[in-house]
Amino acid sequence: MLFGLLLTLDIVSGADLDPNGLRLCFTSISKIQDLSGQNRTAVPLNLPEDTEYLDMSQNPIQELTGEAFSKLHHLCFLKMADCGLTEISPRVFDKIPFLKILNLTLNKLSAIPDLLLPNIQILDLSYNFYRSYQLPKAYKNQKNLELFVLGSANATSVHLSDFDPLQNVTLQHLILGAETKWLTYESGALAKLQHLQEISLKATFCEKMNLLDLILADLNKTQVTAMRFHRSISVQQDSMVFILLEPISVDSLSKRFIGLRSILKQKTYLEWPKEEHKRQVFWASLKAMLHRADKFMVLKEVALAISETTPLINAFEDSKDDTF
Ligand SMILES: *[C@@H]1O[C@H](CO)[C@@H](O)[C@H](O)[C@H]1NC(C)=O
Ligand SMILES: *[C@@H]1O[C@H](CO)[C@@H](O)[C@H](O)[C@H]1NC(C)=O
Ligand SMILES: *[C@@H]1O[C@H](CO)[C@@H](O)[C@H](O)[C@H]1NC(C)=O
Ligand SMILES: *[C@@H]1O[C@H](CO)[C@@H](O)[C@H](O)[C@H]1NC(C)=O
Ligand SMILES: *[C@@H]1O[C@H](CO)[C@@H](O)[C@H](O)[C@H]1NC(C)=O
Repeated sequence: MLFGLLLTLDIVSGADLDPNGLRLCFTSISKIQDLSGQNRTAVPLNLPEDTEYLDMSQNPIQELTGEAFSKLHHLCFLKMADCGLTEISPRVFDKIPFLKILNLTLNKLSAIPDLLLPNIQILDLSYNFYRSYQLPKAYKNQKNLELFVLGSANATSVHLSDFDPLQNVTLQHLILGAETKWLTYESGALAKLQHLQEISLKATFCEKMNLLDLILADLNKTQVTAMRFHRSISVQQDSMVFILLEPISVDSLSKRFIGLRSILKQKTYLEWPKEEHKRQVFWASLKAMLHRADKFMVLKEVALAISETTPLINAFEDSKDDTF
């Protein structure tokens, strides 16, 4: 059904439309405006007022000021990736209260923008230039936030109060980091995200593996049921450990979790033991695993060591008859 829809839209517009944008914001092709890569220096003021989906990516727009979206009250999806944006005036989104998806990745924002977006569900501010992860206070009002992507190569430290505004928000998935090295992590920072369910960490720690210990201890205090580590072990490029606190079969995942499905089809993962006392073994094993260079070897060792308590599942077996 969705596949058919995507195909139709592709033919009509010849464009790469955002799958989440289509899922959350699509009502009619006539309400989609794809103006990406057109060498425009500003958001046009004469766009149809019923526009719901707007892609302005890869246009040289350095600043977003006051009236840019003043007539686009129905906007639900906005993407301005790779525009060289350096500044966003705080009130620029005031007139678009129904915005659900905002993607400002790959710009040059020197601070995390102070945005008031009460209905936002997916927010991508990754690969910008900010030097701190300190979130503006207004982020506490983003009660519907599901996926938050945050990361800057210039931010090398995480401070205790950085994520405070999100402490009461039921965030499903946080993707944090920009594939660069972190120098400091203040213990307790991620523990504040009490309702966090899944985290993907894109950071390297090099010799500072104690940072990872602090992070794991903090995540143990949240509701995180899945973690992904991208390149967290410097020796191997593509190290990834996936931990699931509840067993799930690939087939039971809805199609919206495309990324998760593809990982489960390829990777081996550890299952979180139900019994409290066995969890200690699990955490100890996980730490040992992350401290060592050769993931597969260590994984096998860990598997043998805790095979009585924690069944190791190889998802390959499930994937043969998967039609996705
Ligand atoms: C983009 O527009 C500028 C003027 O605004 C012009 O100088 C430049 O050649 C244009 N680039 C392309 C690729 O069209
Ligand atoms: C934001 O846009 C970039 C560039 O197109 C894309 O790779 C990324 O997946 C988007 N972010 C989200 C959360 O969809
Ligand atoms: C962030 O890093 C980029 C690339 O190294 C640099 O050009 C930019 O000036 C830095 N910005 C800040 C705010 O530190
Ligand atoms: C979160 O909720 C607690 C308890 O109701 C409250 O004390 C705290 O100020 C709230 N924090 C934010 C950032 O809203
Ligand atoms: C995880 O949290 C439990 C208490 O909720 C604690 O007993 C245990 O030591 C923690 N494990 C680690 C590795 O921090």
